[in-house]
Amino acid sequence: MLKYLKKYWFYCLLAPLFMVGEVAMDLIQPDMMADIVDNGVLKSDMELIVSVGIRMILFVMLGGFCGVMCGVFANIAGQGFGNDLRKDLFSRIMSLSFQQTDKISTGSLVTRLTNDVTQVQNMVMMSIRGFVRNTVMFLGGILMLYRQSPLFAGIAACGLPFVALFVVFFLKKASPLFAVVQEKLDGINNVMQENVAGARVVKAYVREAHELKKFDDANEALCSKNLHVQTLLAFMGPCMNIVLNLCIVGVILAGGLNVKAGGAITPGNVMAAITYLAQILNGVLFMANIFQTFTRAKASADRINEVLKDPAVITDGPGAMDTVSTGEVEFKNVSFSYPESSGERVLQDVSFRVKKGETLAIIGSTGSGKSTLVNLIPRFYDATGGEVLLDGKNVKDFPLKELREKIAIVLQKAELYSRPIEANIRWGKDDASHEEIEKAAKIAQADSFIRSTRSGYDTMVSEGGHSLSGGQKQRISIARAVLKNAEILIFDDSTSALDLKTEAMLYEALRRECPGVTKIIIAQRIASIQGADRIAVLEGGSISALGTHEELLKNSEIYQAIYRSQMKEGGAAS
Ligand SMILES: Nc1ncnc2c1ncn2[C@@H]1O[C@H](COP(=O)(O)OP(=O)(O)O)[C@@H](O)[C@H]1O
Ligand SMILES: [Mg+2]
Repeated sequence: MLKYLKKYWFYCLLAPLFMVGEVAMDLIQPDMMADIVDNGVLKSDMELIVSVGIRMILFVMLGGFCGVMCGVFANIAGQGFGNDLRKDLFSRIMSLSFQQTDKISTGSLVTRLTNDVTQVQNMVMMSIRGFVRNTVMFLGGILMLYRQSPLFAGIAACGLPFVALFVVFFLKKASPLFAVVQEKLDGINNVMQENVAGARVVKAYVREAHELKKFDDANEALCSKNLHVQTLLAFMGPCMNIVLNLCIVGVILAGGLNVKAGGAITPGNVMAAITYLAQILNGVLFMANIFQTFTRAKASADRINEVLKDPAVITDGPGAMDTVSTGEVEFKNVSFSYPESSGERVLQDVSFRVKKGETLAIIGSTGSGKSTLVNLIPRFYDATGGEVLLDGKNVKDFPLKELREKIAIVLQKAELYSRPIEANIRWGKDDASHEEIEKAAKIAQADSFIRSTRSGYDTMVSEGGHSLSGGQKQRISIARAVLKNAEILIFDDSTSALDLKTEAMLYEALRRECPGVTKIIIAQRIASIQGADRIAVLEGGSISALGTHEELLKNSEIYQAIYRSQMKEGGAAS
């Protein structure tokens, strides 16, 4: 993660330098104070008081200036670091494959992108400023203390081991808890994410109280863990203060006795020593704080790295494609099981071929593996056995971008974004003209309903497409895919919310306007797919029958059964 700081090395260097200046000014002050007391006040030398006083003020101003500069440079480095890291992390999250996002929840990804990055960023800023400040403060303080009197330095040396002991003890106890705190935060974000996104379902099932309880539990868990950590750390300060005060008592006692006996120590020395002791201890306390931020940030950095370093599962093929686009899709003995599902086969020995311009329809009960099957074509997942071929070449051999540009897929769950309808469709092709968009919408049977909305193509779609009906969302998603003008068009149950008549018009328009496009269409109703060139019946992950509507009616019992049950429904409806 340090590589993100490289770009800002200059600021990382400047900030501590200015910090040394600030601390040096801080360290000189008590010494000058001692001078004023011993040589000015006690000897009533007004001139000395004024001149040293003026010098003190100048030094304070210089110190302040150094402090400001240090703050500015540390901020430039810290913010830049955080910004770059967040950007990279986001782009990595965008490129995660389905199988990776299945593993890390959305809530957790959000926490990592926000909270965890902030933690690491804080650590960087704190280190740049604090590390130097407190090291110099600590060492300089001891040196200055020694200058006042070696005796004082001796007293400090007795107290410091105890301070060190406290720091180590508390941090050791607290550090494992930091990771747990972040985990609890994940928990909250997960509940939040699911419920904010699914607010409508929550309302529909009157589950508010239940979900609130779930949130409360997650919140409670976070709160109690945080409290645990903070209580632990709260003990650290007072414990150290006790040591400090004992040291101060020691300094006053030893100093007082020495002054009384007419030794080398002056009252000013005692005064300065007390200030130096406080500075030394402050240095240590801050150092402890830095270590605390450090351990906390370490937990965050690990979580960020888990995303950044998770090796890409689905990677570009060797590239340099010299194949001709034939628009042909072929499955050769393909089998598949989800990575997390202990080898349970979702697809088994699936083989078929769709030629350019052909339409293959896939029908089958829910859970039979239809979505899984089409997800293998753009490599949302990789087949675990057999080969998926496009243009006669294994899909794994294409560069991902090139592969996915050849395919327009309408996912089962239509995803729209909160922007105008036109922009939603334009996703398919950035540089499309309004006419092209309209044409795509016409094919998707979306044009007329879009025109009937108040602002037509400029109508805003609300987040997640909630302002549209299911069928409208599906048609906009289809328009987006059609606009892409890809070689292969895949509909994953994308017309389920359309009435039969609109659906028939849509397929008719597709046949007419996109004759060269290979189409793979998953559908539920035989009525909507009987015109397809071929129909595959998927049962439990295998193709149990493949042929035209007429062939299947003759040969496939399952197909006949589906047909009969749908005819009965249709008959009852009409
Ligand atoms: N991301 C996933 N991780 C694990 N199992 C999954 C995942 N998606 C689907 N499955 C399982 O794979 C099987 C087939 O699912 P799917 O292809 O969505 O069926 P269909 O689209 O035909 O309804 C189901 O048993 C489902 O539980
Ligand atoms: Mg499905």
